[in-house]
Amino acid sequence: MLSFFRRFMSSSQTACASPLKWFKNVPAAPADPILGVTEAFKKDANPNKINLGVGAYRDDQGKPFVLRAVAEAERQIVDAKMDKEYSTITGVPEFSPLAAKLAFGESSEVIKEGRVFTTQSISGTGALRIGGQFVEKFIPSKTLYYPTPTWANHLPVFRNSGLTIHPYRYYDQSTLGFDVKGALEDIANMPEGSVILLHACAHNPTGVDPTKDQWKEMSRIIKDRKLLPFFDMAYQGFASGDVDNDAFALRYFVEQGHNVLVAQSFAKNMGLYGERVGAFSIVCDSTEEVSRVGSQMKIIIRPMISMPPLHGARIASRILSDPVLKQSWLEDVKMMADRIITMRQALKENLQREGSTRNWEHITNQIGMFCFTGITQQQVQKLINDHSVYLTNDGRISISGINTGNVAYLAKALHDVTK
Ligand SMILES: Cc1ncc(COP(=O)(O)O)c(C=O)c1O
Repeated sequence: MLSFFRRFMSSSQTACASPLKWFKNVPAAPADPILGVTEAFKKDANPNKINLGVGAYRDDQGKPFVLRAVAEAERQIVDAKMDKEYSTITGVPEFSPLAAKLAFGESSEVIKEGRVFTTQSISGTGALRIGGQFVEKFIPSKTLYYPTPTWANHLPVFRNSGLTIHPYRYYDQSTLGFDVKGALEDIANMPEGSVILLHACAHNPTGVDPTKDQWKEMSRIIKDRKLLPFFDMAYQGFASGDVDNDAFALRYFVEQGHNVLVAQSFAKNMGLYGERVGAFSIVCDSTEEVSRVGSQMKIIIRPMISMPPLHGARIASRILSDPVLKQSWLEDVKMMADRIITMRQALKENLQREGSTRNWEHITNQIGMFCFTGITQQQVQKLINDHSVYLTNDGRISISGINTGNVAYLAKALHDVTK
């Protein structure tokens, strides 16, 4: 037996060294900048180290959080001994209408009129990817405008979909706020027939959202320019703690008669990060159009993934359809958003207590998981090297990495590198 094993090992080792060298020209790719932060954090032995790179919610003990409604829905699903048969190309059938109602509202006219096509997707990223492919196939300009800065993954997602992408002004470095003048000017100059990417709420990475009046103005100009809005709604509920409030921009655009594309994620608001639950919707002009568009979406999805997975969508469907689970979920969403808002306040107060004379108002003016601190790359490096506080090079911090146990240390470190 042992000799067989040795013979097997030696023959398989020889077989590994192929003389054909198929992959000798594959260059090593650069590391993902965000995942690289976590790698460096893990290697640091400082007991006070803080990871502010991760885009996932952490509780006040710095631990991942499973929402009560998710745990209960999961228990019910296990008890129900559901089968694991293939789903459909557009996912778990009950999931899409529930996701659409969450996005567009319980009393949405476009849903009542049967004008919304929705499919389950591989979380928000998958929704953006199939949406990008739809634009590439059916919107003649094949051009998408994105805000600067934007979530880093937007660029390869849309480029890989075959789109030409261009930036528009969004963030004003001098005010650390929304560059409303720049954005409106750029929108007014976009060529008719282009697609414009909008973060529905809790803009990543800046935490800067337009006000309701600014959204209204944007809607007007986008309509004048005949642009197609593509909403990325990765944080519904996470910004203000209220899922309806956070859907304001999307619902306003729909009321104004825009046809919109929407990518939804349940990663953050249900804490279903690794389950990959999302939805992609298109608001059409008629039920007949929904049926044509839907048939094409199936053709896009099938060769990419065949069909989305069951488990996470079953959890989300239970939560959205059971009033008790839904109430518990909404309470946990509010609790998470409130903790983030409280930590913003605590960081600002601790910086003032340290004696920092800088203006830190933007920490509490910004919203959602992320804060664009406005510090330089050198200051970021000093935070990492001298204080073991890890963040991305652009000065973005994830507020969810802050808790009552580390906020004072963080403020001291931030003051040290900025004084
Ligand atoms: C703006 C934005 N869009 C989309 C996503 C996609 O997230 P997921 O694919 O995990 O749902 C993220 C995740 O960080 C995001 O920040």
